[in-house]
Amino acid sequence: MTTTITETHGVDPTPTPLALLLLGREADPNSERGVDCPGDLPPASDPNLVERARAAKAALGDRVFILGHHYQRDEVIEFADVTGDSFKLARDAAARPEAEYIVFCGVHFMAESADILTGEKQQVVLPDLAAGCSMADMATAEQVAECWDVLTDAGIADVTVPVSYMNSSADIKAFTGRHGGTICTSSNAQRALEWAFEQGQKVLFLPDQHLGRNTAVRDLGLSLDDCVLYNPHKPNGGLTVEQLRDAKMILWRGHCSVHGRFSLDSVADVRERIPGVTVLVHPECKHEVVAAADMVGSTEYIIKALDAAEPGSKWAIGTELNLVRRLAKAHPDKEIVFLDRTVCFCSTMNRIDLPHLVWALESLVEGRVPNVITVDPETEKYAKAALDRMLALP
Ligand code: 13P
Ligand code: SF4
Repeated sequence: MTTTITETHGVDPTPTPLALLLLGREADPNSERGVDCPGDLPPASDPNLVERARAAKAALGDRVFILGHHYQRDEVIEFADVTGDSFKLARDAAARPEAEYIVFCGVHFMAESADILTGEKQQVVLPDLAAGCSMADMATAEQVAECWDVLTDAGIADVTVPVSYMNSSADIKAFTGRHGGTICTSSNAQRALEWAFEQGQKVLFLPDQHLGRNTAVRDLGLSLDDCVLYNPHKPNGGLTVEQLRDAKMILWRGHCSVHGRFSLDSVADVRERIPGVTVLVHPECKHEVVAAADMVGSTEYIIKALDAAEPGSKWAIGTELNLVRRLAKAHPDKEIVFLDRTVCFCSTMNRIDLPHLVWALESLVEGRVPNVITVDPETEKYAKAALDRMLALP
């Protein structure tokens, strides 16, 4: 079942696919948007869940490899063979050709990337198919194809290189590969943009406007005026031909709803509450927040910065709450707080919980492979070209 919402601000009369079906209800076998768990999900109150997960993992041995993104819950991270940001997990998935099953504790676009990068015989399992990403859903294949037509009509498509954030669907990655572009993550966005500007004069950056803008301005020294915002809900992206021709960075109008919540007020407030605090934020935050912060970096960067920090130092971290809480627990000698006063988990990352993990692992033990994420061969071919370009970046 496809659910749609209609824009009500007079911006766009066409229905937009609802980013996520709340609470994962309803069934849509063709997408991650809300699928009933087809098996017997153990109740969250089952006191034996940890034991069951351990037993199922032990029974599977080397046949299973569990990847856990840093934003996953503690109860899930406990069972991960490796943890990492999306870049590290993509590499880790590709480096395990002997594992029959890759259980991806993360979100749908990460599982798709793992499927693209792993061998044909390996199967990638996402324990809850409702673990999507609202940012990835902000750029559909149709919208991006239309955007490319706009760039073609403006006479700039042949000098524009697409750079797509890992947080995008396999279709968008395939579009990127087809047009000679690369994927990037928050760990390597600077290198990806430098590479892209060696290939062409302009970059179409998808789908996170903030990562694109922050990297272009902070790391490449471009000005805010070099960037324009392409709004897929407006004719021609809401831009004139002159604006498109003058721009160096064409930013897709997408964002992360979790990192988008941090504001200049959050930064001012924490500086007042904790004198001497170092504010460290993820580059998915708004440009004004990044500009007001002391340090900026991917989840892997944040972890390393705190590992290297002096005992007694004070930190306010602007990224997902599961990771910030885990870091605070791991560093009792440092004061580590969440940047905002409001609690802010990524609700889709949190879809993967212990009951879903137990269900997925026990299904594998019983010989059933649940929630397999597969990318069709044609999409895979071009998406892999773009992912391989990223993995080969210097
Ligand atoms: P990284 O894992 O690349 O830091 O990205 C953060 C994120 O939002 C993942 O969904
Ligand atoms: Fe998507 Fe943001 Fe959640 Fe990452 S944190 S999965 S970008 S919604």
